[in-house]
Amino acid sequence: MARMSERVMPLLDRRRAAPAVAGPPLARAPEGVLTDTLGRPLRDLRISVTDRCNFRCSYCMPKHIFDHEHRYLPHSALLSFEEITRLTRQFVAHGVQKIRLTGGEPLLRKNIETLIEQLAALRTPQGQPLDITLTTNGSLLARKAAALKAAGLKRVTVSLDGLDDAVFRSMNDVDFPVAEVLRGIEAAAAAGLGPIKVNMVVKRGTNEQEILPMARHFKGSGIVLRFIEYMDVGSSNGWRMDQVLPSAELVQRIANELPLLPLEATAAGETAERWGYADASGQHDPDAGEIGVISSVTQAFCRDCNRARLSTEGQLYLCLFASQGHDLRRLLRTEASDAQIASAIAALWQRRSERYSEQRAGLAPATSSTGRRIEMSYIGG
Ligand code: GTP
Ligand code: 5AD
Ligand code: SF4
Ligand code: SF4
Repeated sequence: MARMSERVMPLLDRRRAAPAVAGPPLARAPEGVLTDTLGRPLRDLRISVTDRCNFRCSYCMPKHIFDHEHRYLPHSALLSFEEITRLTRQFVAHGVQKIRLTGGEPLLRKNIETLIEQLAALRTPQGQPLDITLTTNGSLLARKAAALKAAGLKRVTVSLDGLDDAVFRSMNDVDFPVAEVLRGIEAAAAAGLGPIKVNMVVKRGTNEQEILPMARHFKGSGIVLRFIEYMDVGSSNGWRMDQVLPSAELVQRIANELPLLPLEATAAGETAERWGYADASGQHDPDAGEIGVISSVTQAFCRDCNRARLSTEGQLYLCLFASQGHDLRRLLRTEASDAQIASAIAALWQRRSERYSEQRAGLAPATSSTGRRIEMSYIGG
């Protein structure tokens, strides 16, 4: 067997190429509302807790690349729960109100409940608890839902790309049965981890036939189903524009059978556009509920993007499509003070100008890929 150092990595490994955090480490406490160069506040921190996953969705971790040769991060590279909590405290001081734990598959991280307990104890400067949520593929949810709730998790979002067992098994590419994920969703509802959202990535020609069965299944269930345009994120999924089903077309397909009407956004910077099911008089029927469409390809939503992403090993990414992160772990491990960490975060956010999806919309297809980008399994959704 080849030694680790001799193995050929199929992906260009950007994970260690991050520069040290630039900017003077001012001994200054966070103050007021932090905004970037486009006036966007920092509200949402997405924390990836593992780069591993037990699924191999072709749009995220295609099997031929994420095979037994793929080098996952060693345990020593991962931020500890204490390090994550310490960093999160500084982000919260700068205005973060929502925390999303992601992966890979976050429920694969050992003792994740302990991290949730630590994060649940944090308070905003106004004394409010955080909105702590988690994105999961649902495979371990039936087993873990009650413990997650007890630890302080508020809600979950479950990825589910179809209801048909054969389609689902082929989407996850590890032959995982859909019934087990549905059981996980039920367990999450029973544990009070709501409002539950279900995210379906739609790939034209692959699972588009599942759109209506999914809509029918979740209509009136209290669960918000969101359809996500397949994105050109990362560098390994072989994305093509003709595999994207535009949300406008998707909404039309559903509305042909189940009438819909547009709903107001509930918060600035939201990813999803909301559509409510209409009753016979054409009004929104709250009992029937709503769907969401996330159209990052056909209708970019960078203008109000308030999301920062922290990778498993403590790199801060200011955009999902970034190719470079900023090394916060180095600060943690060189004994920077809390004030220095807070200042570094402020300096990075204040210089932020990323708006990839908006810019891509104006690019010709041949130039739409800006080189090797970070993988979603590494940075989280
Ligand atoms: P809620 O707070 O529950 O509404 O979650 P959310 O929609 O903010 O986050 P979620 O992780 O559920 O996002 C759903 C999907 O939207 C992700 O899996 C991505 O595919 C996409 N997405 C989320 N954030 C961004 C973003 O900042 N940029 C782009 N381009 N896509 C995003
Ligand atoms: N396009 C859109 N969404 C993606 N996700 C992962 N890869 C992609 C992609 N290429 C999102 C899905 C999944 C979550 C973990 O990440 O929403 O549910
Ligand atoms: Fe795993 Fe989610 Fe990526 Fe699928 S989309 S491979 S479940 S991290
Ligand atoms: Fe935010 Fe980048 Fe997504 Fe635009 S592409 S919404 S800037 S993460």
